[in-house]
Amino acid sequence: MGRGISLRCPSCGESPASKTVFHCVHCKRVLEANVEVAHITRADFQTMRESRDHSIWCWFDFFPVADRSSIVTLGEGSTPLIQARRLGERLGLGNLYLKNDAVLPTGSLKDRSNSVGLSVGKELGFTTATVMSTGNAAASVAAYSAAAGLKSVVLVPKGTAASKIIQARAYGATVIVVDGDFDYEVAKLYKAAIQEFGWYDCLSSNPYRDEGKKSYAYEFVDQLDGRIPDWVIHPTAGGTGIYAMWKGFKEFLSLGWIERAPRLVAAQSEAAAPIVAAFEKGLADVEPVVARETVAESIQVGNPAALGWRALAALRESKGTAIALSDEEIIEAQSLTGSLAGIFAEPAAATSVAAARKLRERGVIGRDDLVVCNLTGHGLKQPEAIRISKEDLRPIAPTLEALREELRRIRD
Ligand SMILES: Cc1ncc(COP(=O)(O)O)c(C=O)c1O
Repeated sequence: MGRGISLRCPSCGESPASKTVFHCVHCKRVLEANVEVAHITRADFQTMRESRDHSIWCWFDFFPVADRSSIVTLGEGSTPLIQARRLGERLGLGNLYLKNDAVLPTGSLKDRSNSVGLSVGKELGFTTATVMSTGNAAASVAAYSAAAGLKSVVLVPKGTAASKIIQARAYGATVIVVDGDFDYEVAKLYKAAIQEFGWYDCLSSNPYRDEGKKSYAYEFVDQLDGRIPDWVIHPTAGGTGIYAMWKGFKEFLSLGWIERAPRLVAAQSEAAAPIVAAFEKGLADVEPVVARETVAESIQVGNPAALGWRALAALRESKGTAIALSDEEIIEAQSLTGSLAGIFAEPAAATSVAAARKLRERGVIGRDDLVVCNLTGHGLKQPEAIRISKEDLRPIAPTLEALREELRRIRD
């Protein structure tokens, strides 16, 4: 593959015969993409930091793409890491930072994965990319396929927000709505379709695509100028973010560029919290659950089969934790993030802030700890989560008197 890129089974160490085999033939585990990084010097690190390319591709040497000419980019990466003083004050956190991935090209963290995934897909000669998704991955795969010149077909479960379907369609995807449970029936159809049509799999079962979220770790080290967060809290579904961030930090540790790594926290909705349950029970692997409805619809995943076990290992190695949040806590966190930090995050994304609040209240996180909450998706992805009454939309007469009366009504 050149550039020291290989696929390997994380359980038995077996390497596949082909670059397009993503599962171990023995253990059935999803393979891991490994990129040799030992030769990268501190001077290279400085060059990467000073690059005029502010996308994740300034870290090209860490990604499993053989040739720069294959890069499929929409400018993803280097998203703002903002110190949220007012929100921090409210939550009793003196050093709270928000990583605003709502500003990524398609409005969610999925762009980190798909920029890398589609770059490799193009390199491997695929012509159609596919994903099954509760919405964000659908839009992202569609957009990056469009940029790469691949067709895209996305499977979404019945009940997916129309706004998310519309977005995927705007990028030219064929969107198929499936009447079935996401974790079982949609997943079964998805696997069968890949086999049948030879499409490029853009789920967490694709080891190349899973490397993209390592960029979080690189960006934190860069943006905090060497300071290392005490905690990084990530809204968690499949577990890719936790797994990949940890891998990114370990790469930098192995190169001696950082001396310690943060403790990672997986934040899930109470309605779909298999990683939290497995973490609390001390299990090595995740037991699938039937995900219930939740306002955090983008992380409504009950069976994180591909990387759940690796996320668990990362949480433990990092001495982190996992926490489940109620819909009420999530909505409250969304509202505080908007009104005190000026960021409109979708409910799933706001689970990180809800988790920071709860862990601070429980005394797990200290007042002066440096805490980063990943805000992983834009609020406009799911605008219906914000309730508006008919009364709110009722127009007033264009007079100062009517305006005064309306202001009084709203305050009361
Ligand atoms: C908004 C949002 N946040 C977080 C996630 C978490 O995904 P993962 O646990 O795979 O990093 C997802 C995707 O599933 C998402 O759409």
